[in-house]
Amino acid sequence: MSTLQEEIRRRRTFAIISHPDAGKTTLTEKLLLYGGAISMAGAVKGKKNARHAVSDWMEIEKQRGISVTSSVMQFEYQGACINILDTPGHQDFSEDTYRTLMAADAAIMVIDASKGVENQTRKLFKVCVMRHIPIFTFINKMDREARNPFDLLEQIEQELGIKTYAVNWPIGCGKDFRGVFDLETRHILSFEATGGAHTVSKTEVSPDDPSLADLIGKQNHAQLAEDIELLDGASEEFDLDAIQSGNLSPVFFGSALTNFGVEPFLKRFLELTPPPLARLANGEEVSPFDEKFSAFVFKIQANMNKAHRDRVTFLRICSGKFERDMEVYHVQGDKKMRLSQPQMMMAENREIVDEAYAGDIIGVFDPGLFSIGDTICAPSKKVCFEGIPTFAPEHFARIRHKDTMKRKQFVKGVMQIAQEGAIQIFHEPDMGMEEVIVGVVGVLQFEVFEHRMRTEYNVEVIREPLSYQYIRWIGGEVETPSHLTISSDTKLVQDFKDQYLLLFTSEWNIRWALEKNEGLELLDFSKN
Ligand code: G4P
Repeated sequence: MSTLQEEIRRRRTFAIISHPDAGKTTLTEKLLLYGGAISMAGAVKGKKNARHAVSDWMEIEKQRGISVTSSVMQFEYQGACINILDTPGHQDFSEDTYRTLMAADAAIMVIDASKGVENQTRKLFKVCVMRHIPIFTFINKMDREARNPFDLLEQIEQELGIKTYAVNWPIGCGKDFRGVFDLETRHILSFEATGGAHTVSKTEVSPDDPSLADLIGKQNHAQLAEDIELLDGASEEFDLDAIQSGNLSPVFFGSALTNFGVEPFLKRFLELTPPPLARLANGEEVSPFDEKFSAFVFKIQANMNKAHRDRVTFLRICSGKFERDMEVYHVQGDKKMRLSQPQMMMAENREIVDEAYAGDIIGVFDPGLFSIGDTICAPSKKVCFEGIPTFAPEHFARIRHKDTMKRKQFVKGVMQIAQEGAIQIFHEPDMGMEEVIVGVVGVLQFEVFEHRMRTEYNVEVIREPLSYQYIRWIGGEVETPSHLTISSDTKLVQDFKDQYLLLFTSEWNIRWALEKNEGLELLDFSKN
């Protein structure tokens, strides 16, 4: 029988981040196929296929054929128990995407080899850096025309400010893609196109093998020799500490669609990523191997059952073992309880869990007790994890109710939806709740919000888009925020914890405010 320590040590919990279309879904699917968690390609796709793999709870989600909320998938591979946290991309990009990263112990960054680092990757990358979690880079679509690999590494280093360590190196690209040279084993894994279908050749060849020029072509052969010489002289040394503290990103080249380089990547990734990391609670580290159970809430999925306003709250287990029906303590509510219907996602299915360990994610039915960032633990443990930061929204609208008779429902709906963390609400100083400014990270959240106000609270709202693009929490030595010198198109607002913030229409205005107000600090996330 495996011990608690062994169970926890074999767990790996990570998120895959990318800009839309870089290949996150394809890579996830290939990883699940290796783990035997799914039996057919296309099962993970929520976007274009009619079939939904995991989360198809929300009506809006079904209507639009997209997955609004992030989910988690667990599978086994060669003794490891893997939890992949799915981060919503595209239009459904929301604060949930950021929060999911707070529950991960590592991130895989998928980059399209023809495009390099793109906008959404940058944003998500910032959250990974803030947490110092290891970041692995998978440069995808090598079977298509790609940018020069040295340029890609340079761009990652320059734009994202992280050093890179190439684990393998591509030989050609597009029609001329012949495989990769593994810089660690010093072997070539060749890629062959046979009769239109691509297959991965199992033959590993050494670069000194005389048959190599025939295999990869004369030009590729010469280029590879040149690249290896350059890499041997100039690339970063392998440094596990630097990798695990998020200062050095191991880089792999491959092609998720043709399944090239995915399995070697998975194997090396599992060797280099750490088991569940310790988390800070009350300023002290809680070890995952501590026998007493503890977890925190990182996501709330509302609208499970309209009639009852049921929601599913997702917990990341931080220490010990969870057992079904065990008594737990909800720190923020100061209450002992049993968690109702604990469940876990196993790729295509949702299953009730009898036990789960540090590193795992479980969902529990919640009648409205929990908030994002809450701690749940064994009654004798009494820890309180540091909250999840609030990330700056990027789209803003003024919201009012259409019907003044519905004022009460309006306030209730707005407050509850904000408390779940689906939207952020702000108001002008000293103004009531007749009218609020709603901020969201992804525009689709506006639609989700309106839909929920209509169906759950029976309130029609009027939405007037605002041209603000940036919001910053006010920090530093500011005693009277209303006395700040700000441009006429900058607005002072308060959040529902009464913290002061500034809404800006441009980055220029942000710089202007900083210049004109000595001691002012502007923060793009709030720790409270
Ligand atoms: P995302 O989740 O990051 O948004 O990307 P996704 O995996 O959906 O991939 C986006 C598109 O890129 C898909 O094509 C997918 O088949 C393709 N793709 C992913 N990996 C590779 C690769 O290694 N090589 C090549 N050539 N293409 C790749 P699509 O036409 O938009 O969708 P679909 O019709 O295949 O579903």
